[in-house]
Amino acid sequence: MEKHSQRLINCIIIGAALLLHCRISYGAKAVVSHSPEGKGTWNLLLNDTGVVGVHMALTRWNTVILFDRSGSVRSGYQLRHRFNGTRCKGTRDDMSDPACFAHSVEYSISNNSVRYLNLMSDTFSSSGSILSNGTIVQSGGFGDASTRIHYIGPCTSGDGCDWNLDKKHLAEKRWYASSQLLPTDDRIIVVGGRGSFSYEFVPKMSTNRNAFHLSFLQKTNDGNEGNNLYPIVHLSVDGKLFIFANRDSVLFNYKQNKVEKKFPRIPGLGSRSYPSTGSSVMLPLDQKDGFRVVEVMICGGAASGANAAARQGKFLTALNSCGRMVISGNKHRWKMENMPGPRLMNDMVLLPTGHVLIINGAKRGCSGWGNAAGPALEPYLYNPKKIVGRRFTVLKSTKIARMYQSSAILVPDGSVLVAGSNPNDQYTYKNVSHPTELRLQAFMPDYMGKEYSHQRPHNVSIDIKGKEGVVYGHEFLVRFLMESQPGEYLAFSAYAPPFTTHSQSMNQRLLRLRCTRIISDANGWWNATVEAPPSANVAPSGFYLLSVVNEGIPSISEWVKFIHADST
Ligand SMILES: *[C@@H]1O[C@H](CO)[C@@H](O)[C@H](O)[C@H]1NC(C)=O
Ligand SMILES: *[C@@H]1O[C@H](CO)[C@@H](O)[C@H](O)[C@H]1NC(C)=O
Ligand SMILES: *[C@@H]1O[C@H](CO)[C@@H](O)[C@H](O)[C@H]1NC(C)=O
Ligand SMILES: *[C@@H]1O[C@H](CO)[C@@H](O)[C@H](O)[C@H]1NC(C)=O
Ligand SMILES: *[C@@H]1O[C@H](CO)[C@@H](O)[C@H](O)[C@H]1NC(C)=O
Ligand SMILES: *[C@@H]1O[C@H](CO)[C@@H](O)[C@H](O)[C@H]1NC(C)=O
Ligand SMILES: *[C@@H]1O[C@H](CO)[C@@H](O)[C@H](O)[C@H]1NC(C)=O
Repeated sequence: MEKHSQRLINCIIIGAALLLHCRISYGAKAVVSHSPEGKGTWNLLLNDTGVVGVHMALTRWNTVILFDRSGSVRSGYQLRHRFNGTRCKGTRDDMSDPACFAHSVEYSISNNSVRYLNLMSDTFSSSGSILSNGTIVQSGGFGDASTRIHYIGPCTSGDGCDWNLDKKHLAEKRWYASSQLLPTDDRIIVVGGRGSFSYEFVPKMSTNRNAFHLSFLQKTNDGNEGNNLYPIVHLSVDGKLFIFANRDSVLFNYKQNKVEKKFPRIPGLGSRSYPSTGSSVMLPLDQKDGFRVVEVMICGGAASGANAAARQGKFLTALNSCGRMVISGNKHRWKMENMPGPRLMNDMVLLPTGHVLIINGAKRGCSGWGNAAGPALEPYLYNPKKIVGRRFTVLKSTKIARMYQSSAILVPDGSVLVAGSNPNDQYTYKNVSHPTELRLQAFMPDYMGKEYSHQRPHNVSIDIKGKEGVVYGHEFLVRFLMESQPGEYLAFSAYAPPFTTHSQSMNQRLLRLRCTRIISDANGWWNATVEAPPSANVAPSGFYLLSVVNEGIPSISEWVKFIHADST
């Protein structure tokens, strides 16, 4: 009945016409504020998270799990009772009992508060992934905990959920290992670790094999220095793994335990892996090329010999280069470019806009206790689509140093939470160059500014007709409100939230989904028909943050789950 007031638009074909329309009505893109000190805003959320955010992960209940390790004994969060109920009286003995302190907390985004969790293992420098039902699986750690596995969730808001220890052990010690969720069976792979030149699966692939040797990890190991720990692992769209350690990388077929391809060495000296600690992302996967083109990017790291020099109190200038390489197809070449400055221990966060935020870290030295100097206070924004030389922007600097053991994660409103930093063995607040940092900040990229309200899609809801999730390749409805007509660049992005630690955002991926139709009601509502990714290789089953991005201005994200056809 209202047909005359509706417009049926094909998202793709209509592009040019809309572009014209938008340019005419909102030539106002020039409202962009060019503040001399760089774009973005820093917001202090909490003065005291109690526990250093060495490891951080966003859950689909919009809480954030943070944890450190029991080995730091006294965290900033003293408990009145141990988890077994006995009292902590504040005696000298109690003050040196890790059980009288929290080592993990759950941060609630809506309440802006933390709740302590029971994690009494030395989960020092461990790894993690998020399973399809939202459970976080934590793998490895230090000492007795190096073969342990913990789970948390799925926890709904306020249900008091907590960590659980798996009775089963890992086959090998996994200290400074990396984890990646695989496309099938809710299985993860755990790769590497100090002295462990192997990988294994949780749960195990077969009953008779435990750990599988991977000589690549041995070959890339620089003696005592390592420089190949926390290997970079990305799941490519062919279901194979890109594994990068030190300066080298391979395409690995984990099903056949076979290195299928050796990629060229990344140019330049220095190293990119712990303790040299650069960072990496897989650039957004796009429906425009059928999700076939996969490109990785690695930025920062430490100079050769940085670790030995740091032990002598000399902090060598970090690497300022980034390398990009297409890992799909048959032509592989690193394309190098420079960041605005040297950086290591940086986090790389994919934003809903498809840009990369490079945040945290230092300008000199390497990872480890007291091994770095010169905090890198200015985030960089990287636009992969621009021409070389125009891709980086320096953003507003923070006053808080985020050195070793800091982390950064994207949350649904489009801001990036920044926590941690503790380049000291114990929690130390005084008389050290970089004290233990318990403040939680949010970095709000420029796109969150009020001046973009008229362009921002809002009141986004996802209609999946009461189902658990959207089957691969199927369509779903995204409904949103916008005062104005969407511009040419209307995008639907789906983001897999990572498990982040030591500058590695494990499992992070961003997809640009296909919109097949968009219809408007008279009252500003838009119904977009969006297609789920084609397969679990492209996007392993689980919860993704869906954002409607209009001309570079993202909506608040909503959760959507992608599932296998047989799980409905
Ligand atoms: C943090 O502490 C400072 C100094 O005590 C105080 O001014 C500020 O309001 C606090 N901020 C938060 C978010 O609690
Ligand atoms: C409670 O835990 C502490 C160690 O943290 C242990 O010393 C004590 O024996 C335990 N008490 C009970 C009743 O289990
Ligand atoms: C979540 O998934 C894991 C792996 O399949 C399973 O072990 C666990 O029981 C599930 N948790 C819930 C609460 O369903
Ligand atoms: C937030 O606070 C409310 C009220 O105190 C509480 O019921 C709820 O469980 C809290 N949510 C989380 C995630 O902590
Ligand atoms: C501060 O650190 C220095 C060198 O590490 C040490 O000599 C000094 O005793 C420390 N001072 C205090 C008050 O702890
Ligand atoms: C849009 O969402 C806001 C809260 O986020 C709500 O107050 C408002 O009523 C919603 N608008 C419509 C038209 O539903
Ligand atoms: C948009 O979707 C909503 C919810 O499914 C539906 O009620 C409404 O009729 C749709 N509008 C149009 C114009 O199709």
